[in-house]
Amino acid sequence: MTADDAAPRRTLYGRRKGPRLRPNDRARLAEALPERRLVLPAAADRLSAAELLLPGTHALWLEIGFGNGDHLVAQMHGHPDVTHLGVEPYLNGVASLLRRAEAMGLTNVRLLVDDARLLLDVLPDGSLERIAVLFPDPWPKARHHKRRIVNRTTVSAFARLLRPGGELRLATDHGGYATWMIEALSAEPRLQWCAERARDWQNRPKDWPPTRYEAKALAAGARPIFLRYRRAGSETACARACKAKVTSPLSKNK
Ligand SMILES: C[S@@+](CC[C@H](N)C(=O)[O-])C[C@H]1O[C@@H](n2cnc3c(N)ncnc32)[C@H](O)[C@@H]1O
Repeated sequence: MTADDAAPRRTLYGRRKGPRLRPNDRARLAEALPERRLVLPAAADRLSAAELLLPGTHALWLEIGFGNGDHLVAQMHGHPDVTHLGVEPYLNGVASLLRRAEAMGLTNVRLLVDDARLLLDVLPDGSLERIAVLFPDPWPKARHHKRRIVNRTTVSAFARLLRPGGELRLATDHGGYATWMIEALSAEPRLQWCAERARDWQNRPKDWPPTRYEAKALAAGARPIFLRYRRAGSETACARACKAKVTSPLSKNK
């Protein structure tokens, strides 16, 4: 199986619920989530960028599978003029994000507690300035590769949704998934890899907050990679993007 074979469209793999939620988290989900929740339109309709943007913000960033919200809450704090769209089907993670956002007084987020592919389908073309998919589940067994959230179908959707000059950020510590991602991205001419030298993907950029899964990977002795792709269509720092094949140091982990 290659990145060519898209995942079935509507089967969500992975968990929606974990350990029993604490009463405060249950209350937060009941009270704060409805205010932040993204409501998907009926089939065949699309959301408009104007209806997604929160007052006082001028751009839309999307994070898929934000986990406990480490990266999302840091970006909400660092970029208050952005509406952050966060997608995470795991309710305990959503509760964690809401708890942290509340503690920091942050409200610039809209949340989908479901499969990110449902949102990709209804966002308008060129509406996103940034997309992040950090340490997505690697599904290492070959028969599970079709479950991977980054595949040729979603990569094509990312290219459609990013505005010219917009950025896609991906991270993984799994060699097989790294190769799979790069293969899917190499087949998408609208996205240009921003790496000019190995250290560009070996090191997390300073403006890219770390996550729990990165910490886990480092603790286990793995070497995560950090991929940045720019949506073609404007003169950007990536215009000189290196399209050469880069061999992942992790490829032995297939
Ligand atoms: C390995 S965790 C990484 C979490 C976080 N990004 C981090 O780096 O700490 C993968 C996350 O993706 C979420 N996920 C899995 N399938 C998804 C889907 N179809 N749409 C959105 N999120 C998904 C999982 O619930 C999980 O929280």
